Amino acid sequence: MTAQRSPQTGNNLDPWYHHYAERAAGLRASEVRALFAVASRPEVVSLAGGMPFVAALPPDLVINAMDRVMRQQGPVALQYGSGQGVPVLREQILEVMALEGIRAHADDVVVTTGSQHALELVSKLFLDPGDVVLSEGPSYVTAMVIFKSYQAEVDHVPMDEQGLIPEALRQHIQRLKGAGKTIKFLYTIPNFHNPAGVTLSWARRLEILEIARENDILVLEDNPYGLLYFDRPAPDAMRSVEEDGVVYLGTFSKTLAPGFRVGWALAPHAIREKLVLANEAAVLSPSSFSQLVISEYLATADWKGQINTFRGVYHERKNALLDALEEYLPDLTWTNPNGGFYVWVTLPKGLDSKAMLPRAVKELVAYTPGTAFFADGDGRRNMRLSFCYPTPDHIRVGIRRLATVLRDELDLLETFAGTGSLNPLREDGRFSSPPADIL
Ligand SMILES: Cc1ncc(COP(=O)(O)O)c(C=O)c1O
Repeated sequence: MTAQRSPQTGNNLDPWYHHYAERAAGLRASEVRALFAVASRPEVVSLAGGMPFVAALPPDLVINAMDRVMRQQGPVALQYGSGQGVPVLREQILEVMALEGIRAHADDVVVTTGSQHALELVSKLFLDPGDVVLSEGPSYVTAMVIFKSYQAEVDHVPMDEQGLIPEALRQHIQRLKGAGKTIKFLYTIPNFHNPAGVTLSWARRLEILEIARENDILVLEDNPYGLLYFDRPAPDAMRSVEEDGVVYLGTFSKTLAPGFRVGWALAPHAIREKLVLANEAAVLSPSSFSQLVISEYLATADWKGQINTFRGVYHERKNALLDALEEYLPDLTWTNPNGGFYVWVTLPKGLDSKAMLPRAVKELVAYTPGTAFFADGDGRRNMRLSFCYPTPDHIRVGIRRLATVLRDELDLLETFAGTGSLNPLREDGRFSSPPADIL
């Protein structure tokens, strides 16, 4: 028989409620999670998730690589490995990074369980409660979950069509330093930003590195999407010009498949040493099996051709999304990404993407509300639309449904507030939006 726990130690839902460490408070299920469970039903067109379209990867490429790994080095693949990662894969990762201008040594690469885990390890090494992480506003939601789980504060620096705004970064640093805050790093996604879709210009990369250097701030450059460009490559990585002040994160999740859970960090030497120790403490070693299969794939398959295939798929889907927005919702504004998975949409003043989501799901279309991407509740007038997973036809259907929802919302708004003009009101050209001020 299970003993009944005393109510003082918890609450009705969780008897351990009062036992958790303070840092666990940040680990809350998002308010929209329940809706996303509904949104994954087949009749719903989901423009919400960021799942790569792995069906564009011929299964034989993976099956053959797995087969050879198991026949030729099965016992090694099934064994624990090095906490830093398989040496041959670390050499091959150098070739991948060279495509974005990075020259490095395999000794400074640490293989991790996806780049998500690298974000976790870097945060573990650097963040104390009350520290500040600078990041773009909006920013990648699950990075912010990690930062908050280490009880750090996220300070959003505005961005525009060319990415993070250097002048705003200067001002934020000054203000934070004036307030006696400790800034630990700048977390940035320079290429085909998640969720904003924009790319940091070359000139700004240099300026931001300069600002970071002047202020002794480490740059955490997160680059999952850089090789998935459409018309032209993104500028070279920030790490290509700055070795000592940048920790660069890469992954095979978007250029191959996320199921392998293999990413990496390239770090200055001293940080690299600590990353290896933290990696060992967390997982002993990243999966030998996944690493060896990826290594075999890179050695024998046309991996650059496969990335080209992914580019073609995503480019077609982005075009389908923008064409549909143009046709059904011409009065909204949106970014036009040259790669990656995401478009960032700004709604007319008075609309609230979070409040609207249940109605959208009822109309069988889902998106991610902008509020998910801000640590401070901003983003109500924004939504992220992902074009990576649904087919072009489904994307069209989804946007048509979304247009119905928006039209109904605007009608309501007109009725109750005497306004309803579909005027995109992005007054200053920046992405951060004021909270809904009419409803
Ligand atoms: C900006 C960004 N960073 C990191 C990740 C994590 O990727 P993974 O852990 O699969 O390498 C993602 C996944 O979507 C992402 O969008």
